[in-house]
Amino acid sequence: EAARKLFMGEVDFLKGVVAMDGLPPDDRAEVCFAGRSNVGKSSLINALTGRKALARASNTPGRTQEINFFTLGEERYLVDLPGYGFANAPVAVVDKWQRLLKQYLSGRATLRRAFVLVDFRHGIKKVDEEILTLLDKSAVPFQVVMTKQDKVKAVDQEKVLEQVRTALSRHPAAYPEIVTTSSEKGDGIATLRAIIAGLT
Ligand code: GTP
Ligand code: MG
Repeated sequence: EAARKLFMGEVDFLKGVVAMDGLPPDDRAEVCFAGRSNVGKSSLINALTGRKALARASNTPGRTQEINFFTLGEERYLVDLPGYGFANAPVAVVDKWQRLLKQYLSGRATLRRAFVLVDFRHGIKKVDEEILTLLDKSAVPFQVVMTKQDKVKAVDQEKVLEQVRTALSRHPAAYPEIVTTSSEKGDGIATLRAIIAGLT
């Protein structure tokens, strides 16, 4: 209930950041949403906050091109990151975001937890492994959030979860619990809200 109140309360877009010196002051607890292009990061932020178009989502990979900061209440930031992996943008531009993404993930003191989104249809890929290893090295605690649960039949879900569990067992910075979600149907959204509300 407290979590619902927090997310239904004041949520605003603060700014889009294109370089490390543009980051807002690190005076709040911060959680970010990382993952391959098109995995559903922006859609998840919209589902969490109950706003349809707070974060811009689209079917074109590479939609989010900046580090977007949202204020959640008075004490937290939600951070929507550009995707990694394939993107519909020129290579030089993509390289620039990827560098910024890595700098952010390894150098943000107030980052309490990185949520790494994994598409339920695909499981953990090689590009994800790179990011997970970076998070280990930077000692950023991370938690996997499965997305697009509505696209995979219940009988096929366990096999993917097993692949993810096995991959996570090799990463010291990983939380073992996996959150399964559908931004489309709303599954797992309350669980994720409660996790974020509980972080201080
Ligand atoms: P980039 O910003 O390009 O890295 O992508 P993103 O990770 O922010 O993905 P985005 O939220 O823009 O979603 C990509 C596509 O997946 C959109 O067409 C969404 O509607 C769709 N999508 C996201 N979440 C879900 C979900 O839970 N279920 C279904 N069926 N589709 C989803
Ligand atoms: Mg996005």
